[in-house]
Amino acid sequence: MRLITRHQLPSIHPRRSFVSLLFTISIFVSIGIILRATNQDTQSTAIINEPIVTKQKEVKLSEDKTILNQKIAPVQKENAWPLDAQGRSLKTNFLVLDWTGFFGGGATEGERVLCSSSNTTFVWTRQHNRIEETDFIIAHDGGAGGSIPFDHLHLSNDQQQYTMAFVMESEVHSTTGNAWARFNFIMTYNLDDSYPEPATYFDMNLYLDDLLRPPSVSFEDKEKQADAVWIISNCNAQNGREGFIQRLMQEIKIDSFGSCLNNRRGYGARMADNVDAYKKYKFVIAIENSNCADYVTEKLVKAVESGSIPIVAGRDGRPDYRRYMPKHSFINIFDYSSMKDLADDIKRIGNNKTLYESYLWYKKNDINIQNFKELPLTAKLKHVADIIGLNSTMLTSGIAAKEKSENKVCKLTRFVRQTPWQDIAAHNSTARAGPETACLPRRHLSNSFS
Ligand SMILES: *[C@@H]1O[C@H](CO)[C@@H](O)[C@H](O)[C@H]1NC(C)=O
Ligand SMILES: *[C@@H]1O[C@H](CO)[C@@H](O)[C@H](O)[C@H]1NC(C)=O
Ligand SMILES: *[C@@H]1O[C@H](CO)[C@@H](O)[C@H](O)[C@H]1NC(C)=O
Ligand SMILES: *[C@@H]1O[C@H](CO)[C@@H](O)[C@H](O)[C@H]1NC(C)=O
Repeated sequence: MRLITRHQLPSIHPRRSFVSLLFTISIFVSIGIILRATNQDTQSTAIINEPIVTKQKEVKLSEDKTILNQKIAPVQKENAWPLDAQGRSLKTNFLVLDWTGFFGGGATEGERVLCSSSNTTFVWTRQHNRIEETDFIIAHDGGAGGSIPFDHLHLSNDQQQYTMAFVMESEVHSTTGNAWARFNFIMTYNLDDSYPEPATYFDMNLYLDDLLRPPSVSFEDKEKQADAVWIISNCNAQNGREGFIQRLMQEIKIDSFGSCLNNRRGYGARMADNVDAYKKYKFVIAIENSNCADYVTEKLVKAVESGSIPIVAGRDGRPDYRRYMPKHSFINIFDYSSMKDLADDIKRIGNNKTLYESYLWYKKNDINIQNFKELPLTAKLKHVADIIGLNSTMLTSGIAAKEKSENKVCKLTRFVRQTPWQDIAAHNSTARAGPETACLPRRHLSNSFS
């Protein structure tokens, strides 16, 4: 498995129903916490306002108050949250609370992770009752993290407790809106909206190896009975991709191994198999389940790994594939005004070796991939710049400029050691834009080519 974080489940439906179960649970937990917090507020108001009548009652009340303070106040140790004069964290070991888990799994209690970019370590916990000693509280999906008691967290010279919400699904398949605005950090695949950095499907170290590696199957050895391959398990995608593929299948030959429009057997929809299938075809259909700003997933990663030409769909920056690929290296269906034009061009490219290989121009290089693999990311990026051009969108404002190939939490520990807490506190997180803003409309693909 070459991706950084993703758990791939066989079908989207159990996962979605699990997410809704999680969501329901989290609503109950939130209600519980709100009730408890409300109860505590009432108690503390009562303690402050209620006239103290008898000695006995006074004692009792101050006991209550102590218990209350113990619940809310941090466990304060000497120098527990050390800072430099600028307010940057000097901690070298952080405690990270996985608040939500991840699709039924999640962090392993007590697991220690080393972050080499900042020479720090962090330890995972899943125990909500350790929140007072926690440095980072992590939620998978801003909505599911709504039960975090944000108002009880500290961000001051005495203690810094940060919240982070992340998600790897598009706006169509995850929560959006104000739930996200309460977090200090938001990490999604969205390259610009994330703070401090995105959390993407791209392990750049591996991605750059694959990008520059020559194709393993030559033009002559590619499949001749079919033009393109498609392996998909979500057959009811928001953008209407099935309807589109069904019509493209009338113009060119597409082998579909997945459960949608299946016409071939031999490869499952499991990711590990996909590259073996992909590399035998001239074209790989790498259209996502929704067309949202920067929503580019392992579909492109796997197509690049295979050394075949990806066929993608991106319009009005939803997404902009130049942020992920060199120029003239993919076919964007929106560059064509009709299904026939698109099909004719796929055939023209697929039948002309010179033209076909021109789309893989960046793989024709004199890099020794074995040596290249050993280089640090910055050195790799320099080589990539020499080949695809320093000013290419992929390098200036795309994935290569933003993704540091690190564990999401390591990105955070590095950031808080470099950034005063006051700056982080002053950063205004915003609501996560909904699908109506971030994505193309429902069934857009099937409706665009009529
Ligand atoms: C981490 O520590 C090692 C050894 O002390 C040092 O050489 C290296 O520069 C440090 N790296 C960072 C990112 O601070
Ligand atoms: C194949 O493509 C190349 C590059 O675009 C072009 O120069 C050549 O004329 C094409 N060959 C045929 C037979 O169309
Ligand atoms: C890259 O962009 C910079 C700034 O726009 C420009 O000065 C430079 O000439 C460009 N370099 C190349 C190789 O196009
Ligand atoms: C954050 O929001 C506050 C209140 O809305 C505003 O006063 C402040 O200027 C904003 N800060 C930044 C960095 O945008």
